[in-house]
Amino acid sequence: MVLGPDFFPRWLSMGDSCQEGSPLTGGGRKLPCRPEMFDFEGISMTHFSLKNWEKVRNFQSRPDDILIATYPKAGTTWVSYILDLLYFGNEDPECQTSKPIYMRIPFLESCFQEFSTVAGTEMADSLTTTPRLIKTHLPVQLVPKSFWDQNSRIVYVARNAKDNAVSYFHFDRMNMVQPEPGDWNHFLEKFLKGKNVFGPWYDHVSGWWEKKQTYSNLLYLFYEDLVEDTGREVERLCSFLGLSISAEEREKITKGVQFDTMKQNKMINHVTIPFMDFKISPFMRKGKVGDWKGHFTVAQNEQFDEVYKQKMKNTTLKFRTEI
Ligand code: PPS
Repeated sequence: MVLGPDFFPRWLSMGDSCQEGSPLTGGGRKLPCRPEMFDFEGISMTHFSLKNWEKVRNFQSRPDDILIATYPKAGTTWVSYILDLLYFGNEDPECQTSKPIYMRIPFLESCFQEFSTVAGTEMADSLTTTPRLIKTHLPVQLVPKSFWDQNSRIVYVARNAKDNAVSYFHFDRMNMVQPEPGDWNHFLEKFLKGKNVFGPWYDHVSGWWEKKQTYSNLLYLFYEDLVEDTGREVERLCSFLGLSISAEEREKITKGVQFDTMKQNKMINHVTIPFMDFKISPFMRKGKVGDWKGHFTVAQNEQFDEVYKQKMKNTTLKFRTEI
């Protein structure tokens, strides 16, 4: 069985950690130092993506690859799992119970060299499945050229900025390979300025939206639509991918990807990742539309709306912050 420690062999021997007592291992293992952010072509990134950049840039896509692209915390794991079940749910049921999703669907630009011997590009290269499902958080302008040349299919998922910001805040709190978020107010200021890993939310969602106007092999989904009617969105995915499944199968997948079910699934809920501190926050946290209302003060909300109006004034893209 391939679980976290096998996938993260370097973790066990690493020395440059700075926080003690990971609750994940009963206090024996140390958590790593938080990474610095660098400006890369106008986008804030950490060395966990930049270290392997030449290989990312030159990554060779295939025509039947499916790229799952998102701004972090927009529903990547959700859509990844749906696609995984659609393609491989019946084919390899054992895989579903023994291989964490981050191994089945490599995170292209990730290179957690301190912990793992394999970078995202290598994992993708070694996938034996058809299609290969590959995850990325890159803004559209940084996606490896081969995806466009090969006309690969792309599923983009976007989530309203307020819930996306809240989810990202809690993720940065619990994920030691992300920069230290500070308190909510500090994080929100950073989010408004676009100084998060993978850059400004506004440019990410609208950049991909623009791309959709000229690149027909791109399906643009919304997290809010998935919450509202998962079955309908599964159908939308099938129609985009040219898959025909029975109503029974669709129902089964729709049930299997509900929040509570995914939260209990150790191959999906990321508990096998050693640098996430689940005592601070779970990866599968709330899974709601409108959770932002419990975080934003009235003043923060007004400031956010003001900045939002400015940043989004040139796009036709519209989001729902409640359903
Ligand atoms: S990551 O780290 O960028 O890959 O995270 P990502 O998977 O994009 O986003 C995590 C958020 O998606 C929520 N999620 C779901 N919501 C509803 N239903 C289902 N099935 C589901 N699966 C994942 C997850 O709970 C995170 O959102 P928050 O708001 O933090 O709960």
